[in-house]
Amino acid sequence: MPPIIVARARRDTPAASKVLHFNNAGAALPPQHVTDTVVNHLRLESEIGSYEAAAHAQERCQGVYSSVASLLNAQPGEIALGESASTAWAAAFHSIPFQAGDRVLTSMVEYISNYLGFMVMRDRVGIEITPIPDDNYGQLDVDALRAMLDERVKLIAITHVPSNGGLVNPAEAIGAVARRNNILFLLDACQSVGQIPVDVEAIGCDFLSFTGRKYLRAPRGTGGLYVRSSVLEQLTPRTADSRSATWTAHDRYEYAPGAQRFETFEHNVAARLGLGAAADYAQLWGLDAIEARIVKAATNLREQLGEMAGVTVHDKGERKCGIVTFSVSGLDAHQVKSALSAERVNVWVTAKESTLLDMEARRIDTMLRASLHYYNSDDEIDRFCGLIAMLARP
Ligand SMILES: Cc1ncc(COP(=O)(O)O)c(C=O)c1O
Repeated sequence: MPPIIVARARRDTPAASKVLHFNNAGAALPPQHVTDTVVNHLRLESEIGSYEAAAHAQERCQGVYSSVASLLNAQPGEIALGESASTAWAAAFHSIPFQAGDRVLTSMVEYISNYLGFMVMRDRVGIEITPIPDDNYGQLDVDALRAMLDERVKLIAITHVPSNGGLVNPAEAIGAVARRNNILFLLDACQSVGQIPVDVEAIGCDFLSFTGRKYLRAPRGTGGLYVRSSVLEQLTPRTADSRSATWTAHDRYEYAPGAQRFETFEHNVAARLGLGAAADYAQLWGLDAIEARIVKAATNLREQLGEMAGVTVHDKGERKCGIVTFSVSGLDAHQVKSALSAERVNVWVTAKESTLLDMEARRIDTMLRASLHYYNSDDEIDRFCGLIAMLARP
């Protein structure tokens, strides 16, 4: 794949010239094509009726499964589409037949919603939750994971790229351990899909949850789940509705084939078409090229911030991505965010409670999070660093 042409990516992104958007780990700016796809379908719904518009777009709606599947190197029948990473993750997690005493091994950077799910299952069924320690790089320690395995481990559930830093956890090495020991592996790829190549075959995960609005640049309210077809029969979906099951006789039902059994009937068709358009758009650039540009930009930002008096960069991990976390000495993170916002610069504040285990272990309450995408330019990074340098000045 040729490298990303940043100027062209910016031309495709109308808002790129209006705001300096370093909040791509929150929600990225959409390409014009994605917005057009959504708006055109909404208009059609208003003109001919929503069900009629859906019938009109049926083939394209079906195509969204192929677009997402090819992004993840999966089969279309292994993809369930939904409205967020959390609902996708929960659909997978709660379909696993846990019993009292089963163990779940997880990462130190696990996202709040996932950890809440573990605790709900602990309280309901009596599972045991064990975080896997980090290694010296601050990423999940794969040797420690191996040492923690026993016959009670039912699931390894980890976050690929956390919401609170630039780390990329070693998903492929973790997948190899899961495969060798025949343990289910659930990967939260909410921050990695659209940002780095994510290949379910190379990783060897059984489930993978993702969201649309972040690095994939799709509309809000979109997301999905990959479920390996070979594990389907071990699972019981938490709910059934007219999409996920068929009412075959007055006292019987059958789950839909494939991952569709994890879906529900009602969804935002326009947004889903936007998700498909975003998945296609990312693949046109190529995920290798996207990662290369993001890493170059984020490295530039980290280096400039790292040299600034009064600024501390917090990212850990051997392999890093586009999320840059830092703090400015003497200034509350929210104060810095507001000052930047007044300059039409978008960042986020990552707070302790989203990734409690990691933040408590590092004794950090809040960090500024500047999350870069391939359409962010070097000029934007320089301007951003100029603003931070002014704020950091004693
Ligand atoms: C690592 C990670 N997992 C899961 C989620 C939840 O995603 P969603 O809001 O789409 O449910 C987030 C959101 O920030 C996240 O960063």
